[in-house]
Amino acid sequence: MTKYLPKAELHLHIEGTLRPQLLFDLAAKHDVPLHYASVAELEQAYDFRDLQAFLDLYYAGMGVLREEEDFYRLTEEYLNVCRRENTVYVEIGFDPQAHTERGLSFEVPYRGITQALKDAHAEWGLEYGLILNLLRHMPEESGLQAIAQAEACQADILAVGLDSSEAPFPPAGFVRAFDKARALGLRTVAHAGEEGPASYIWSALNDLKVERIDHGVRCDEDPALVRHLAERQIPLTVCPLSNVRLCVVDDMSEHNILKLLDAGLLVTVNSDDPAYFGGYLEDNFEALAVSLAMDEGQRVQLIKNSFTASFAPASFVAEQIARVETLAGG
Ligand code: HPA
Ligand code: ZN
Repeated sequence: MTKYLPKAELHLHIEGTLRPQLLFDLAAKHDVPLHYASVAELEQAYDFRDLQAFLDLYYAGMGVLREEEDFYRLTEEYLNVCRRENTVYVEIGFDPQAHTERGLSFEVPYRGITQALKDAHAEWGLEYGLILNLLRHMPEESGLQAIAQAEACQADILAVGLDSSEAPFPPAGFVRAFDKARALGLRTVAHAGEEGPASYIWSALNDLKVERIDHGVRCDEDPALVRHLAERQIPLTVCPLSNVRLCVVDDMSEHNILKLLDAGLLVTVNSDDPAYFGGYLEDNFEALAVSLAMDEGQRVQLIKNSFTASFAPASFVAEQIARVETLAGG
């Protein structure tokens, strides 16, 4: 019997689960030269002053992912952590353009990730969805191509998202891509209000018409926006350890996640890029307990929110929330 409550993770970049040791193993497998002599030396480089400093290493690191089986192994390792932590539902994001740009076909990451998800479903009942994230530092046309590639191979995609360098690339540049995603029946999310201003959250909602915001912590700079998010119960997938590691907040003790929760926003806890930011989902909850004195009521609410904010079928959400309530109450 696990000590952890069942929960969902909704903001997770699968390429950000590439542990330094696996990065070294895959580099050796494919004869990829690395700029670091050892795993320890690579880990020391994980000291980021901002989002871009992280992204530079994140894109360089994923260069060792060359074959379908590499993506399978990457995903399998992350899902093993989910099983240990009782994360029973995941909406995993991946960055196809970062792979097709370096010569892989769309199918290579797609098939490897999907097979690992299917196997985890068969082995221990994981439920899941896949999010195709568009890179905002690349032209919208390239994002439209990524969506077309998914369509061409009849990929089983749940949602389209928007990630990468935020501040220089406002959401409004991706209206056509998000219109296309919706026309295909896909759900929509976007990173906004991580490093970018509160106005980017408004733009993601009004221009891209997304249903959920990744990060969104800078919403607190605009009281009207905070009211809007609370009234409409628009989910924010917050990533506490990520925000500290990327200097979005100075210290965990200053993180606003519990203030937003107590103000009635539908906030959730997520790990973003756990191999780079020092922890998986339970580490993020632990950080909130230690640095923000999160109480049990807040923990249970955040966990229930993780299902409410998901795109899972309503019956599954209701069933999981009932399980959480029974286990937490007992
Ligand atoms: N923000 C934006 N893009 C990303 C992130 C993030 O935290 N992680 C991976 N791509
Ligand atoms: Zn992210």
